[in-house]
Amino acid sequence: MIFKEGILEGKTALVTGGGTGIGQAISLALARAGCDVALASRDPAHLDETRALVETLGRRSIAMACDVRDAALVDALVARVAGEWNRLDVLVNNAAGNFLCPAEKLSPNGFRSVIEIDLVGTFQCSRAVFPLLSVRGGSIINITSTLDYQGVPMQVHAGSAKAGIDAMTRHLASEWGPRGIRVVAIAPGPVGDTEGMRRLGGGREAAIAESIPLRRLGRRDDIASMVVYLASDAGAWITGTSIVIDGGQRLKSSFLDVQA
Ligand code: HXC
Repeated sequence: MIFKEGILEGKTALVTGGGTGIGQAISLALARAGCDVALASRDPAHLDETRALVETLGRRSIAMACDVRDAALVDALVARVAGEWNRLDVLVNNAAGNFLCPAEKLSPNGFRSVIEIDLVGTFQCSRAVFPLLSVRGGSIINITSTLDYQGVPMQVHAGSAKAGIDAMTRHLASEWGPRGIRVVAIAPGPVGDTEGMRRLGGGREAAIAESIPLRRLGRRDDIASMVVYLASDAGAWITGTSIVIDGGQRLKSSFLDVQA
């Protein structure tokens, strides 16, 4: 973590999927930066460790089970944050679902499940926090992916959802900017030690790392550091855009790469 501790002193954040993987790194980075952190996950067992770590860092924490597909649960989550802290400065829409599946074998419900977690969930959380965020201004940070920029097999569901979140980022940034709310997306490339890599990487981590110009997988803190930057005054004029963090991985598909 390259930021001065306390850069977000006195602020509060809500991180969906905040107990594991990239979400856990984001929660802890925000806590180190001075935030109280509310964590949500479908599985409450995913939250205990991160909640304890946030509190060890001297910050308050709320841990609540919430499936972001369920608008009533999202509203209850935000009502709890409002009731206990009476403020919110940062929402990180990090919860996501994914699996590899050929498009022609993907059931409509499989497609819908991922759209509902990623895209509908991001909207429902953003909508629910609007009244709190608009009191003092704040930021919404959406975690997307670089896969939808490239168009890859077996990811039509997740890629479509992430592309929708990119569009939502621009629309909400435009609409809520005048209310003091910045909306930014972070598009990570392949990040190690995550559920996504376990599901998509298929044990090829070393080869994937070798294919990346910076010759390593992303670290969870590569993403978390950008969240802190964007949530802080350092990012005060950044909105409505997607920031790629991928070690240059997306650059590696030129037709000149094809071997004769
Ligand atoms: C094909 C599958 C499938 C698979 C589920 N489905 N897994 N289809 N291949 N491997 C189908 C089911 O058959 C069902 O359709 C529908 O999806 C819903 O499945 P459920 O198991 O009932 O859903 P649910 O319990 O709600 O689980 C949601 C999930 C699951 C998305 C399907 O994978 C999940 O909970 N994932 C959470 C964690 C996760 O994925 N994290 C990694 C994120 S990585 P039918 O028709 O049978 O009813 C990431 C990287 C971004 O986001 C990359 C973006 C491009």
